[in-house]
Amino acid sequence: MLGEVMEWLVVEPDDFIVDMTLGGGGYSRAILDELGKEGKLVSFDRDIEAVERARGLFSDEPRLTIHHAPFSQSAEFIALHSPVGHDGAVFDLGVSSHQLDEAERGFSFQQDGPLDMRMNPDSDAESAADFVNNRSVQELTEIFRDFGEERKARAVARAIEKRRETQPYTRTLDLAQTIESVVGRPRPSKFKKAKHPATRCFQALRIAVNQELDELRIGLDNALNTARPGARVAVVSYHSLEDRIVKNYFRDKAGRCHCPRHQPVCTCGAKAEINILTKKAVKPSEQEVEENRRSRSAVLRVVEKI
Ligand SMILES: C[S@@+](CC[C@H](N)C(=O)[O-])C[C@H]1O[C@@H](n2cnc3c(N)ncnc32)[C@H](O)[C@@H]1O
Repeated sequence: MLGEVMEWLVVEPDDFIVDMTLGGGGYSRAILDELGKEGKLVSFDRDIEAVERARGLFSDEPRLTIHHAPFSQSAEFIALHSPVGHDGAVFDLGVSSHQLDEAERGFSFQQDGPLDMRMNPDSDAESAADFVNNRSVQELTEIFRDFGEERKARAVARAIEKRRETQPYTRTLDLAQTIESVVGRPRPSKFKKAKHPATRCFQALRIAVNQELDELRIGLDNALNTARPGARVAVVSYHSLEDRIVKNYFRDKAGRCHCPRHQPVCTCGAKAEINILTKKAVKPSEQEVEENRRSRSAVLRVVEKI
């Protein structure tokens, strides 16, 4: 979605832009290409490996400052760089290809690795193994159901509970096998490539381990509260839970009234802080989906601060 994001962000040479999700630095590189000598880019990532790689990659780039911080803590940093706010911010949510492909990070159900899934492996936060070995059946059911929309959430949680009594989970493939034994393999179809049966539960665990949805709500607040009038905020999401949060958040900030439908006068105090620029979510082109299968679920929404 890089092309679409850059079209909507409209970067001017002297702008101060914020990349909330640095990752491999593709978006940051494209933004720097649009900025002039006086322009400034501040990029965040909570993953120290991504930050260190990017610091090497951009070592000769004085216009860029990289912070190792979650975007829930970005507001103070942004204010330090400019008290009047930024001219544009972008979120490219979720995990990077690098995180997914690196078995040692523990995100993959296709390659064996330690069951970790923390985007910031340096933190003291619970890993995915801590979650599956210690959380109750009820808690695991809610995680798989609410964050993964897995229909067999309770059965998966029960199977995990039974198996961990004799041997706690430490590896990704081990967990993927338990999930597959409950969810089963989908029947092959000529038209659609089948999803791996562990896809939904792995997504759910990743969201829980990294508190991704809370991060997103606070990150969006930070991006809007530190935006100058006219600044644009672009968000690329990769699953319906994320996109629903982004869509509803933007609708509320665009002044959606929460009064009962038949009340003649609004009393909830709804006030528009933004204009929604993408009336419909923007999807990747067919060509991009062909070239990069991971982009098939991407959805872009863009707003402008009033
Ligand atoms: C999809 S990748 C971004 C890819 C990037 N746009 C590029 O061009 O390479 C998402 C990145 O955001 C980071 N990330 C996810 N949630 C974050 C958060 N709450 N705070 C900071 N970084 C986060 C991940 O660690 C990952 O590196």
